[in-house]
Amino acid sequence: MKPSWTQLAVAALAGLLAFGLAACGGGSAEPTAAAPSGDAAHGATLFAGTCASCHGPDAKGIAGLGKDLTTSTWVAERTDTELVDFIKTGRPSSDPLNTTGVDMPPRGGNPALTDADLVDIVAYIRSIHVK
Ligand code: HEC
Repeated sequence: MKPSWTQLAVAALAGLLAFGLAACGGGSAEPTAAAPSGDAAHGATLFAGTCASCHGPDAKGIAGLGKDLTTSTWVAERTDTELVDFIKTGRPSSDPLNTTGVDMPPRGGNPALTDADLVDIVAYIRSIHVK
């Protein structure tokens, strides 16, 4: 005798339920990272493409263009989040906090940089900073 439509439906539902339970319950319990940390190697590539034109290929600054980021105490005193926020907005020469009279453009003048890119760039800046 052929199975009825209801029997097939019940079997299908049971199968779905079992699959769903396996998918939910069987997940691995990998520890989540304590804090989001950027990819410094990727940040170095992005820095070379956008920031090096003013801050120099090694971030040691170019006179009249961009400051040395490797020895900046201002950089050292900021959190990663604060640095990302700073790079997003920059520091125009009209800003009273500007120290050189030269514009630091938002996102280094490259709007294509995503927030995740900026996190990677900050990781790179941390990696080359000397105390
Ligand atoms: C067009 C030139 C230019 C580009 C491109 C540029 N900057 Fe700057 N940046 C500056 C200038 C000028 C200052 C200093 C502003 C001032 O006088 O306070 C500065 C300041 C900074 C500071 C603060 C340093 C301090 O000690 O106060 C950080 C951090 C920084 N830039 C990061 C970056 C990053 C990251 C990029 C690339 C995404 C970038 N900059 C691209 C010109 C530039």
